[in-house]
Parts: sequence; structure tokens; C-alpha cells
Amino acid sequence: MPHNQNLSEPPPIDGAAVLNALPDPVVVVGEADEILYANSAAEHLFRASFAFLQTKALSDLIPHDSPILLLLERVRRSGSSMSQHGVRLETPRIGDHVVRVDAAPMAESEDRIVVTIQEQSIAGKIDRSLTHRDSTRSISAMASLLAHEIKNPLSGVRGAAQLLEQSLGAEDAQLTRLIVDEADRIVRLIDRMEAFTGEIQLDALGPVNIHQVLERVLSIARAGFASGLRIMERYDPSLPPVYGDADRLIQAFLNLVKNAAEAAPRDGGEIIVTTGYQHGVRLAAPGAEAPMHLPLVVSVQDNGPGIPEDLRRHIFDPFVTTKPGGTGLGLPLVAKLIGELGGVIDVDSRPRRTVFRIFLPMAREGAPHS
Ligand SMILES: Nc1ncnc2c1ncn2[C@@H]1O[C@H](COP(=O)(O)OP(=O)(O)O)[C@@H](O)[C@H]1O
Ligand SMILES: [Mg+2]
Repeated sequence: MPHNQNLSEPPPIDGAAVLNALPDPVVVVGEADEILYANSAAEHLFRASFAFLQTKALSDLIPHDSPILLLLERVRRSGSSMSQHGVRLETPRIGDHVVRVDAAPMAESEDRIVVTIQEQSIAGKIDRSLTHRDSTRSISAMASLLAHEIKNPLSGVRGAAQLLEQSLGAEDAQLTRLIVDEADRIVRLIDRMEAFTGEIQLDALGPVNIHQVLERVLSIARAGFASGLRIMERYDPSLPPVYGDADRLIQAFLNLVKNAAEAAPRDGGEIIVTTGYQHGVRLAAPGAEAPMHLPLVVSVQDNGPGIPEDLRRHIFDPFVTTKPGGTGLGLPLVAKLIGELGGVIDVDSRPRRTVFRIFLPMAREGAPHS
């Protein structure tokens, strides 16, 4: 019986056709980031044919300071695959995207790296953490500028007002007092912004017991700003140490719990703090060769009115506040602190249930203690 391959057997599967059917862009880059392969979705993302892409390096197509290039460097150095969430990819050519990037060395030739790009607005909700990173970058530049350009002359203004005060009558002295008080207020605001300029010390990072961090935060809360509220703790006691730095974690969670306390109703106000595992999220953390393992999640929930829909996209931007006397610097600071640890933040809000979830990397075994 004649063998008719076309009728009796399906044709063999062509790997390239499979890659072209994928909705996610896949590219292969060589040693110098030159593009060796791009599937159809990648051609679509970069708005160029493979023939054109082949003449380019990935660094020609994405911003030069893109974390993707850094990720490739780390994959090359470590020889193992890594992922990064919440990467902002923005150029005039390709528009503005928040993506998750997976980079893996090719089995047969380690100089070649397969890069998969997933749009996160579809793939996950974690994309928001990125915008936060950008806003903290601009805040930190602004804080150092303000420190120089305002604080110094301001101390001159303050000193001059104090001198004047000595030769003025009681009524006019009120005005000089006002100058001094307002100058002090501006200095305090700038000081608070300067919290953003501190660079993270990677060697200060290590295993931290997150429950001790939360205990500290909640004892401060109970003794002060949250004294009238019910605070519930739902901890997973088996949780391994978090990769981080206790001081920054305290600072971050203090801000979240304070916001929760300020949002919760005076009467019947409730805050729930939860810890646990979040399966299936892998994160690249600063200074780490391999991606961090299973991240841990800490959530802070309140039963306040919720964050209005139109405000939600902006709460991590500096100076966004709905509170009289608020600074709008709490959440940008949280985003900076958590982002530098390689963590991400997610917000879910509706009336009577607002949850801030912080995903944190787990400390590796054998990592030095902080
Ligand atoms: N748990 C929450 N519930 C409702 N709104 C919140 C919550 N947390 C933050 N917000 C909103 O986000 C804004 C920004 O918060 P933040 O950056 O901490 O600044 P501030 O607390 O000084 O206003 C708040 O003014 C508030 O409108
Ligand atoms: Mg706040």
C-alpha cells in the first residue's frame, strides 16, 4: 500500500510556525544584544519586519537605560534564566507598555538569549508598580534640587526674620514668627522628600522576619494613630524570612497602616494585616543573580470608603492627597522602598474593603543576616 504522507499523517510541526502563532513577542539576541530572531508578535511590537530587526541590536530599539538590558547582562553572567515584572517599555516607535520580561540562555549556545515579552496590562495587575518607580525617580531628583535651591536660602530668610524680630513691636513680631514657622514647615516638607534620595545599600539586605516588622509597626499604630481601631493579624507562622532590610520594611508598612487607619471609619474601624505565600510569582531582585523564589505577600486591608476610581491611578504619584494637611508622599515612598527590594505593590479597592498587597522576595538560604 503506497504511503501517502499528506493524507495519512499530519505534517510535522514547524517550530517557527508555533513561535509565530504566539501572541507574545519572542526575540533571540546574541552576545552584543544583536537581534538574531524575532517572531511575528515581536515584529508587531517593534513595528518592523524581521529583515529590518536583524540589522539592529535590541539596545537600538529600547531605551538605553532599560532594565531589560540589565536583565540580559545578568542572565549572561549567571547563565540562568530570569524574569522581571513591571518593566516600562516606552519609545516613540513602540509606544508605552508595561511588560514582564523573561530571559533565558539557549541550551546549545549560552551566548544567545531568548527574550519573551508579555504585556502586563493584560497578563497581570502588577503593572502599576512600575509607574510608581518612575515617579519616585523624578521625586528623588526634585528633592535633591530643592534641598540645594530652597533649604539654604530659606535658612537665611529665617535667620533674617529672627534678627528683625528683636527690633520690632509685639504686633509686627507676629509676622516675623509667621515667617519663621512657615520656613520651618517648608524645611520639614523638603526633609520628608529627601527620604527619597537615599540609595539602597544592597549589602544591607538580608533575611528579615516580617512578623517582627509587623509587630513593631502595629505596636506603634496601637499606641498612637490607630488607637481607636480594631486591628486583626492573620499571619502564616511558617513564612520564611523576607529578603530586605527591617528599617525600610517598617517604614513602608507604617505608611500603609497609617493610610488604612486614616481611611477606616471612626466607629467600627477595622484593619486586617495578613501574611502568606503567593504561588506562581517570580521576581528579579536587585543584586541577586538568580530570580527570587516564591514571593511572600503581606496585605493591609481597611474597611474605609475605598479609593475613588479616578484617583486610583495616581495615588502613587508624589503630592497626590485628598487629606487636609496630607503630603501625598506616603505611597510614593512605599513604592520606592518596596521597589528597591525587588517587590511589587498591588491595590484592590472598593467601599469597605481596600487592600494593599505587597509582594516580597523570599530570602535565599545561606544569605547573610542583616
Ligand atoms: N487605605 C486607603 N483608603 C482610601 N484611600 C487611600 C488609602 N490609602 C491611600 N489613599 C489615598 O491615597 C492618597 C495618597 O496617600 P499618601 O501617598 O499616603 O499621602 P497622604 O496620606 O499624605 O494623603 C490619600 O490622600 C488617599 O486619598
Ligand atoms: Mg499617607
